[in-house]
Amino acid sequence: MEHELQSLDREARQQLAGITEISQLEDFRIRFLGRKGQFSTILRQLGTVSDTDRPRLGQMANSIKKEIEELFESRQEAIRQAAATAAEPASLPDLSLPGRVQAAGRLHPVTQIMQEICTIFENLGFSVAEGPDVELDYYNFEALNIPPHHPARDMHDTFYVSDSILLRTHTSPMQARIMENSQPPLRVIAPGKVYRCDSDITHTPMFHQVEGFLVDRNVSFADLKGVLTVFTQKMFERDLPLRFRPSFFPFTEPSAEVDIACVICGGTGCRVCKKSGWLEILGSGMIDPEVFRMVGYDPEVFSGFAFGLGVERIAMLKYGIDDIRLYYENDQRFLSQF
Ligand code: DAH
Repeated sequence: MEHELQSLDREARQQLAGITEISQLEDFRIRFLGRKGQFSTILRQLGTVSDTDRPRLGQMANSIKKEIEELFESRQEAIRQAAATAAEPASLPDLSLPGRVQAAGRLHPVTQIMQEICTIFENLGFSVAEGPDVELDYYNFEALNIPPHHPARDMHDTFYVSDSILLRTHTSPMQARIMENSQPPLRVIAPGKVYRCDSDITHTPMFHQVEGFLVDRNVSFADLKGVLTVFTQKMFERDLPLRFRPSFFPFTEPSAEVDIACVICGGTGCRVCKKSGWLEILGSGMIDPEVFRMVGYDPEVFSGFAFGLGVERIAMLKYGIDDIRLYYENDQRFLSQF
């Protein structure tokens, strides 16, 4: 009987080790551990052994059976867990995960405003022209009545490439470039990048301007006022009062800086307009006869007006942005608002 118990122990352990599926577990249980299983059969035979051997064999049989039962249970638990983890990823997607949003690209706010400005002027009959960022000193300064050593050059904080080549400090050189190659009547805007060695909360070394000019016979300051009034109405989507403040630019005479009533406070005075009620938005004037002479136009026959506006500044006023550097830090949280 002792041998029988030992071989049954071995057999049960071997069988258990080979079990990999839940269905095999039940077969095993019936065959070895059930009421009619092999352990029960042996235990029943205890009655036939001698009184001296019975306690020892009984103890042995019970402890082997108990060990096999424990092994059976841990095997059963392991197989159940393996089945559960195997089933999970394939058949049960996590329905609580947030969806993946496709991030759509969009135009930079400066590009958007630039396009809006161009559209407004195109609707007024202006055509659009683009010129080089790397410009000759001649077009950037001399052709605009700013000769060498003219004090106006100091205001431009110019990046020079060589003595006669520079990064354009404004889009005004496009006036000279276009006029020297064509005849009036002309209605042109020139959008683009400009560069100045300057950086703080209202200046970046690169920014955008739109230059505009109109040349024909009998063009007056009233025409300039009319065009700029329509422009500001369209740009700021309301009828804002305009103010023409006398100023000086070497390439216009007379010259005026144009202010709009503060878009934040409406003119009563606030932090943005520094309590003045007005915001400067552009420079303008009647094209100086000297500029006409340099491109070969007769100032007795033709007259015209010109203006130049800063795109970042217009966008700041329109959207209430107080730091120009935000445009160029490429922070998605800022850019995606437009
Ligand atoms: N070019 C000037 C600047 O960048 C702006 C300007 C002023 C342009 C007067 C003009 C003008 O056409 O008439 O500061």
